[in-house]
Amino acid sequence: MYKRSEVPHDAAKTPTPVASPEGRLGVLIPGMGAVATTFIGGVLAIRRGLGKPIGALSQMGTLSMDRAPSEGDRLIRDVVPLARLDDLVFGGWDIFDDDMYAAAVHAGVLAQPTLDGIRSDLQAIRPMPAVFDRRYVNRLDGPHTKSGRTKMDLADQVRRDIQAFKAANGLARMVMIWCGSTESYSQPGPVHQTISSFEAGLKADDPGIAPSMIYAYAAILEGLPFVNGAPNLTEEVPALQAMAQQHEVPLSGKDFKTGQTMIKTVLAPAFRARLLGVAGWFSTNILGNRDGEVLDDPQALKAKEISKLGALEHILQPELFPDLYADLHHSVKINYYPPRGDNKEGWDNIDIFGWLGYPMQVKINFLCRDSILAAPLVLDVALFIDLAARSGWHGLQDWLSFYYKSPVTPAGVLVEHDLFKQRERLNARLNQAAQAAVRNAEMYAHHKTRRLSK
Ligand SMILES: NC(=O)c1ccc[n+]([C@@H]2O[C@H](COP(=O)([O-])OP(=O)(O)OC[C@H]3O[C@@H](n4cnc5c(N)ncnc54)[C@H](O)[C@@H]3O)[C@@H](O)[C@H]2O)c1
Repeated sequence: MYKRSEVPHDAAKTPTPVASPEGRLGVLIPGMGAVATTFIGGVLAIRRGLGKPIGALSQMGTLSMDRAPSEGDRLIRDVVPLARLDDLVFGGWDIFDDDMYAAAVHAGVLAQPTLDGIRSDLQAIRPMPAVFDRRYVNRLDGPHTKSGRTKMDLADQVRRDIQAFKAANGLARMVMIWCGSTESYSQPGPVHQTISSFEAGLKADDPGIAPSMIYAYAAILEGLPFVNGAPNLTEEVPALQAMAQQHEVPLSGKDFKTGQTMIKTVLAPAFRARLLGVAGWFSTNILGNRDGEVLDDPQALKAKEISKLGALEHILQPELFPDLYADLHHSVKINYYPPRGDNKEGWDNIDIFGWLGYPMQVKINFLCRDSILAAPLVLDVALFIDLAARSGWHGLQDWLSFYYKSPVTPAGVLVEHDLFKQRERLNARLNQAAQAAVRNAEMYAHHKTRRLSK
C-alpha cells in the first residue's frame, strides 16, 4: 500500500499511442430503467438540438494542456480523441421488454415535450432478455429473462447477444455499462478468487455468482470494457480482474457519485483544509423510483449504505487528526417514499466545531433529480472507458474515480474520494491521451511530408 504522498501519478511520462475513435461505438447496458433511458434519451435529444449536455465533462469540460500551457484551456472533446455522440449506438438487456420510449415514460424523468421529439428513435431500441436472479434483487421480478442449463450457458447467451448486436449495427467497438438494479450485498468467496474457480462456479451454478458478474464475464471475453454504476461486487471479483488483465480490457466502478455523496466529497475536504472539526454527519434521503423500491430491501440497502459511508474517513483521516475527527459519528439513511419518484430529496446535518471547540452546524437540503445527475456520468464513462481501451490501458481504471462513490482501484493504489483530487487524476490521464493524439498527428504529418518530397 502506498502512503498518501507516494500515490503514483496516473499519467506516465511518455504518451502511449491512442487508436483513433473511427467507426460506431456500441453502448450496451444491462438494466434499462431510469438512468439508462435518461442517458439514451438525453443523447438522442442533444443530437437533435433539443438540449445541451450539461454535466458531461466529455462535452463541456476543458483541459489545460501540459504540453502547450500558453494555449490556455481547451475543450476536452477538441483535444482528446473521443467517440462522437453521432457515432453512439445503444442497446442492452432488461427483465421488462418495454422499448426505451415506454421505459422512459415509466421512469417519469424526461418530460413529454423532450420525449415527443425522440419518440421513434427510442421506440426502435428494445432490450434483450436479461440474465436475472431474484435472490440478488428481492423486490423485482419480470418476464423478459433468459433461461439456461447453467450460469455458463447464460454467459454464452450474453456473448452471442453481444456478437449479434455488433454485426447487426456495423459497430467498430463496444462498451458495457451496468445501470441495472443494486444487487444484494455480498463479499468475495472462494468461487471468486481465480479464473478457474469462477468458471467452475459458472458451470456448477454457484449461488455466489450474481447476474452482474455473468454480464461482466461475457463482456471481458468479448473484449468489451466493463463499467459498474451500482454498488455491486462485480469488478472487485479477483477472477474478473485477472481476466481483464489477460484479455487487456479496462474495468471501472463502482456506484455513480451523483447527489449527496458528491456534495459530501466537496465539503469534507473544505473542513479538512480549514482544520475544522466534525463531530457528526447525519445524511438522510427520500426516494420514490424503482431504484428506491429495490433499495427498500435490507440486503440491497446494505450494499448502498456501505458504499455511501466510505468517503468521509478517507478524506478526513482521523488517524492524522484525532482532535478533529476521531469521534465523528457518520450515519446514512435511504427511505423509500413513492410520491417523489425520481426527484430525490436529501438532507444533511453536519455538526462541526471550531476555535476552542465551539460547536456550529451546517444544514443542506438538496432537492435533486437522481437520473438527471447520473445521465451525464454514464456518457462520460462510456466515452472515457472506450478511450482507455483504445489507449491500451487495461484492468481497473482508477483515474475514473471521479465518477464513483466507492472507487475500486488496483492493488497498491490508494483510493481517492476528494472530488477535486479525483478531477486532477482524471485530467492527468486526459492530458496523456491529448499528448498522444498530438504526437500521432505530428508523426502522420511527418510521414506525409517525406512521401511528398520523394
Ligand atoms: N440515479 C442515481 O443517481 C444513481 C446513482 C448511483 C447509482 N445508481 C444506481 O444505478 C442503478 C440504476 O438506477 P435506476 O434509477 O435507473 O434504477 P431503475 O430501477 O429505474 O433501473 C434499473 C433497471 O435494471 C433492471 N434490472 C434489474 N436486474 C437486472 C438484470 N439482472 N439484468 C438486466 N436488467 C436488470 C430493472 O428491471 C430496471 O429496469 C441502480 O443500481 C442505482 O442504485 C443510480
